[in-house]
Amino acid sequence: LERERIFRRAWQYVGHEHEVSGVGDYLCATIAGEPVVICRGEDGRLRGFYNTCSHRGAMLTEAERGRCGGRFRCLYHGWTYDLEGRLIGVPHAEAYGSRFRREAYHLIPIRVGIFAGMVFAALDPLVDSLETYLGEAAPYLQKYGSGTEVIGRLRYLYQGNWKLWHENFADNYHPEFVHQLVRDMYVGYEAQGINYRLDEGHGLLIWPTIRPNFERCQAGLQQASGLEIDLSRNANWDFSPFVGQPPQQEELVLTLFPNFDFASFYGASIELRVVQPLAVDLTRVDLYVLGRKDDSSEVRRWRLERSASWLASHGKVAADDLEALHRCQKGLAAQVDRRVDISRGRMPGKVGETRDEYSIRSFYAAWRRYMETME
Ligand code: FES
Ligand SMILES: [Fe+2]
Repeated sequence: LERERIFRRAWQYVGHEHEVSGVGDYLCATIAGEPVVICRGEDGRLRGFYNTCSHRGAMLTEAERGRCGGRFRCLYHGWTYDLEGRLIGVPHAEAYGSRFRREAYHLIPIRVGIFAGMVFAALDPLVDSLETYLGEAAPYLQKYGSGTEVIGRLRYLYQGNWKLWHENFADNYHPEFVHQLVRDMYVGYEAQGINYRLDEGHGLLIWPTIRPNFERCQAGLQQASGLEIDLSRNANWDFSPFVGQPPQQEELVLTLFPNFDFASFYGASIELRVVQPLAVDLTRVDLYVLGRKDDSSEVRRWRLERSASWLASHGKVAADDLEALHRCQKGLAAQVDRRVDISRGRMPGKVGETRDEYSIRSFYAAWRRYMETME
């Protein structure tokens, strides 16, 4: 039901514009379980189509990204489409007789929108414009997302519902308990800043940058492990390439309804995540590591290593979260009629301290609206 009522009717991030900058460049994605392809035409425009041949349905391309030679040729019987989705070639077409109309077999278009260099797609032809959909989140995505590039990808599965991960991203109540490392490193950070309920199901957490406390963190690790630890020997612990010139004075977490999470820490570690439901209790997390065009190779390497070591499924913070979500998934099997509580902060209202749950309530208000309305 969520696929039908939410994912078929919402905008979905599919990639960055720079990944499809040339004519014939394409990106593939799956939206609500349906394969789509986004490609750049001869006229420079990006278009999207269902990734399925109108003959007998084979996917036109299986690659996640690539460049086609100006057309898509189906591997099965050779039907060929141009970059605008028009059927331009049918081998041995005579057998179809004179009533055959190629126009009836053009690829079915989907909506494509670009914002801050990011490409979004939507299956529903009647979906609101991307700008309207982003609403209050737009200026933040513009400010922090513009000029970013995808420099790496990580992907993993976890056994739990997709909403748990998305919810966790908007949750700043848990870090001081689940992430002992974060608590040691950024003492008291969570009591500063705001948790903001944005319109349309989006949410925002923002707090001032605090210098990491390595001594405390090192002592904590030493105590827990009984090992001699010297953090200065591991470059991705600190923000060494950015020391003295932080690109950004605040930390930001932006959650877009339904499954897009963007974070920028110190302006140094920038990531976005798309949480894909595969089944009620199985989710795929697609993590995109972001950098900037003018990054030196040292900065780029630092960003990649930091993301891998902190945010991959085994990462220093992701592993903690995954453990918590696993326990939620399992625990929620008890007492079938139980409720989860997301009531922190004054209600109604839009903004409170980062530990409040305004952004999570924003998500569930939109979730309910989508689930209760039918086309
Ligand atoms: S399925 Fe594509 S040409 Fe037959
Ligand atoms: Fe966390």
